[in-house]
Amino acid sequence: MGSMKVLAFRLCAGFLALVLISPRPLRAEKTDRPNVVILATGGTIAGTGATSTTTVGYQAAKVPVEALIQAVPELQKVAQVRGEQVMQIASQNMTNEGLLKLGRRVNELAAEAGVDGIVITHGTDTLEETAYFLNLVVKSAKPVVLVGSMRPSTAISADGPANLYDAVLVAANPASADKGVLVCLEDEINAARDVTKTNTSSLETFKTPELGLLGYIRGGQVAFYRTPLQLHTSQTEFDLVNVQKLPEVAIVYGHEGVSRTAIDAFAAAKVDGIVYAGVGDGNPSEATEAALADARQKGIVVVRSARVGNGIVARNAEVNDDQRDFVVSDTLNPQKARILLMVALTKTQDTKELQRIFSEY
Ligand code: SIN
Repeated sequence: MGSMKVLAFRLCAGFLALVLISPRPLRAEKTDRPNVVILATGGTIAGTGATSTTTVGYQAAKVPVEALIQAVPELQKVAQVRGEQVMQIASQNMTNEGLLKLGRRVNELAAEAGVDGIVITHGTDTLEETAYFLNLVVKSAKPVVLVGSMRPSTAISADGPANLYDAVLVAANPASADKGVLVCLEDEINAARDVTKTNTSSLETFKTPELGLLGYIRGGQVAFYRTPLQLHTSQTEFDLVNVQKLPEVAIVYGHEGVSRTAIDAFAAAKVDGIVYAGVGDGNPSEATEAALADARQKGIVVVRSARVGNGIVARNAEVNDDQRDFVVSDTLNPQKARILLMVALTKTQDTKELQRIFSEY
């Protein structure tokens, strides 16, 4: 045998020996299917009604995660799926403590080598807020997908099973990585920052008005057409490492004839921040502008958002934000502005820094 042949033979033999004696991974059971964990929190997707036609007056948050998974055997063809019940609530009862618990668990799982994607089943009422919170504090580029349903699991044509199947398809797909937290219902994929619930009862309620959805699921295929540009997940300056409690931030809704009563009450309760859902371009009335200025003097951070639903809240337009030391919410709706302010206040109280944060996230 020539010396080149001997060398090639030795290399092959060495490689074969390495393959044969390499230890198998202990935790991650790697199959050809990606590993997806479903974290269940409750909501209508886990709801039950008295009859198959009960789509109003049913009870949310009743069905355990194992039953949700078993109801869709097709999931196992797409991914190696396992479930975990993190909480069992109707999402109008989601709390800051609940957000922290969920955020920590998502971060733990996302750090595991054997987890490729995470799906979170959630009530639709506050789904957009939880999604945006996770979008800010999850430290991973792995897909994290929130899903819910508008009809309970017992209803004729319940939308939960198909939505869950779609969510697992998206979480299992490498194309979903590094796009921030995603929201998946009715064959549509939306970005956590921009999506909002637009209809009290229709199935196609989650929309990203004007800015647009990210993609579709059709025929078992995931198709993306755009990606979020605002900072998210692994790109953010936020984490939950030293956060024991989130700051208290309240929302005050503007309207014709609005008084300063609610703002004064929140200031007396010593909240850390107030988001004002102003009319038009986030505008307060003379009375509420004065009340917000007084609150700011007491150290409470004031963010002007808008009740309108679309568009940028312009800084120093009809309100002199520089003089008042107010922050504006960019395009965030009031409920998302509240989430960002809570998270941002864990890092800084400096209003210039807070304004930068509202521009970047
Ligand atoms: C909830 O948000 O928990 C109830 C409503 C729903 O999930 O659609």
